[in-house]
Amino acid sequence: MIHLTNRLSAAASLVRGGGSIADVGTDHAYLPVYLCQTGKIKRAVASDIGEGPLENAARTVERWGLSDQIELRLSDGLDAFTPGEVGEILICGMGGELIAGILRAAPWICRPGMHLVLQPMSHGVDVRRFLCENGFQIENELCVSEGRRVYLCFSANWTGQDERQPEAYYYFGELPAADANARMLQKRVYAHLCTRADALREAGRLAEEEAALRTVIETYERMCQDDGQRDL
Ligand SMILES: C[S@@+](CC[C@H](N)C(=O)[O-])C[C@H]1O[C@@H](n2cnc3c(N)ncnc32)[C@H](O)[C@@H]1O
Repeated sequence: MIHLTNRLSAAASLVRGGGSIADVGTDHAYLPVYLCQTGKIKRAVASDIGEGPLENAARTVERWGLSDQIELRLSDGLDAFTPGEVGEILICGMGGELIAGILRAAPWICRPGMHLVLQPMSHGVDVRRFLCENGFQIENELCVSEGRRVYLCFSANWTGQDERQPEAYYYFGELPAADANARMLQKRVYAHLCTRADALREAGRLAEEEAALRTVIETYERMCQDDGQRDL
């Protein structure tokens, strides 16, 4: 069986399974191969924007004898997919802004039964915001480490309800205070927000943006005081 790193294992653990999935930006197709081998999914479309990554994917799929279950497809985001073709979409290993952009360009994903597994390498804020502003409920949020790096991983269901959350949630999520990886990630987000707010103040512009950031910063500081487990 193919071996997955902690980051991709976390994504695999959040897959609902049972049907067909799309793995967008698949590169070596490790994730769909693993999911087929474990029997969690029956069929996958492994897509990528690049010919080179798709050649990597083809090698992995052939090596493990899964060509009848995994289709390879050249596609910019979800452009080469038809609505309803897959009920579950995985996008891992890209920046949060790019992931949100890919999802935004495919409004057909907002439909009952749609399940997403997203693993941003940065800008988790953009992923949370996109999900909540587009009727997705975040059902799980994991934080895993590989060496010194810490990664976020989300799963979400489309409910079509108003899932919007307070601004601080988009930055910090609902990661448990007892999780050391989560605390480390939140501290980094907090430090980044403080630096950005200070820079805006020094530049003497975008007062509204600075005020909004200060509100988020203060909310997090209160959270830290209240639960006693987080330090700044
Ligand atoms: C760092 S790799 C991640 C591979 C794998 N998903 C993982 O998490 O290990 C990012 C992949 O996304 C692909 N990619 C970037 N932009 C894309 C887009 N707009 N549509 C589809 N694939 C894209 C790249 O070609 C690359 O193969």
